[in-house]
Amino acid sequence: MNRTGPQPSRTPVRLRANGVPLPTGSSFQQALVEAAAVANLSPSSHNCQPWGHAWLKSDRAKASAYELLDLLPGHDDATAGDPDNIYLALAQDTDRSLTALPAHSAEMHLSCGSYWHLLLRALAAQGWVPTAVHHIEPEALDHAAHRAAADSDWPRNWRMLSLAVLSRTGIPRSADLTDLRATATARHTNRAPYRDLRVAPEALHELAHLSPTAWATSNPPHVTVRHLRSPVELRRLATFIAHHAGRDFSDSAAWRETHSYFRWSAEDAAARPDGFTPEQVFGAVSTPRRLLARVALNPAALPHLCRLGFDRYLGTQLAKTVHTTPVITAAGLPTDTPTAPDLLSAGMWLANYWLTATQAGLALHPLSILTQHEDLRSELQQRFGLPGRTFFVARLGHPTTTTAATLRHTAATLTL
Ligand SMILES: Cc1cc2nc3c(=O)[nH]c(=O)nc-3n(C[C@H](O)[C@H](O)[C@H](O)COP(=O)(O)O)c2cc1C
Repeated sequence: MNRTGPQPSRTPVRLRANGVPLPTGSSFQQALVEAAAVANLSPSSHNCQPWGHAWLKSDRAKASAYELLDLLPGHDDATAGDPDNIYLALAQDTDRSLTALPAHSAEMHLSCGSYWHLLLRALAAQGWVPTAVHHIEPEALDHAAHRAAADSDWPRNWRMLSLAVLSRTGIPRSADLTDLRATATARHTNRAPYRDLRVAPEALHELAHLSPTAWATSNPPHVTVRHLRSPVELRRLATFIAHHAGRDFSDSAAWRETHSYFRWSAEDAAARPDGFTPEQVFGAVSTPRRLLARVALNPAALPHLCRLGFDRYLGTQLAKTVHTTPVITAAGLPTDTPTAPDLLSAGMWLANYWLTATQAGLALHPLSILTQHEDLRSELQQRFGLPGRTFFVARLGHPTTTTAATLRHTAATLTL
């Protein structure tokens, strides 16, 4: 087993001017290192980065892949056993996953799906194109993959979520990877107020009708997007948030977990490169305000302050930014009980949506409090006539400030 972060390639892939083909001899290992660095910039709930991937390279690991693919419904791989095929697995790292709320399981799938989308797109940009992507139902895993995984050096805290078969096709173009890397680097969660400027209808149209990726996935996403933007809708949503967003702070188990992701000092941030700094959450703050926030948000102090109405105050602050946001994005799935593969596909869609918005100069700020509690979710769906089961809600608009990049672990890469 070889678990490493991205290593500098021995023979660096030289990315030249736009449209110049990459050296055809570049190895899959090099391509994977490049792709992992891009995918590692994905968004994740609390920036917990609950993902990893494994290249199933040895004969034994490939045999596990065949065994698993055989079990998957609808899989018909005419090229099975082709020695040139590459088998790549996506994993959820349960040691890095959020668990305080039942809804966090869905958020972990969305986050891992987002990573998978970027990883596969960055590989495709280098000529390693998925010929099949199979998301794995937990039941199938119980049967085969766990046995296969137990056989190999699969980490005990990694849960396999998806398996991709890749082959070397087409001529890779360096510009595709350069563009993707630039967009993934520019994409940030922006929690500041947005400009009082409408979002162009063409941009919204494009975002609501994203073209599917070129590769075939076992569960293509069936996401419906609503963009709320009339003054009446925005005012009603702001009122809804003002009433309910305080729950983020008054649910003590959830808050304890959220609070554990705050990195209050530079030393802490260096030692634990996930979560967020106070600046990322509150913007630039003076030292006294930062100290005050640190004391007030401590899980030992917060319940007392909530009894005095502090949670409602915080909810009102969020509502103010919602009121002045030009668009609220609400994304839904057609089924009321989405499976793990449905949510993984939705995460892949989310990455595509966020990258497309970034390219259009737009910023996003997710508002997960609205989807984390069943009562709030169904009231939201009902009040705003949202189709399907809403899995993601976010502010969308032109940013007023730039945001610093969040902390990152090195990509969790495994070769088996
Ligand atoms: C499924 C999901 C849910 C999220 N929910 C929230 C949220 O409720 N509030 C928030 O401020 N950010 C939310 N985020 C944004 C993450 O905090 C953010 O992606 C992470 O801190 C990394 O920062 P970056 O997006 O700037 O790279 C969410 C992200 C994902 C993928």
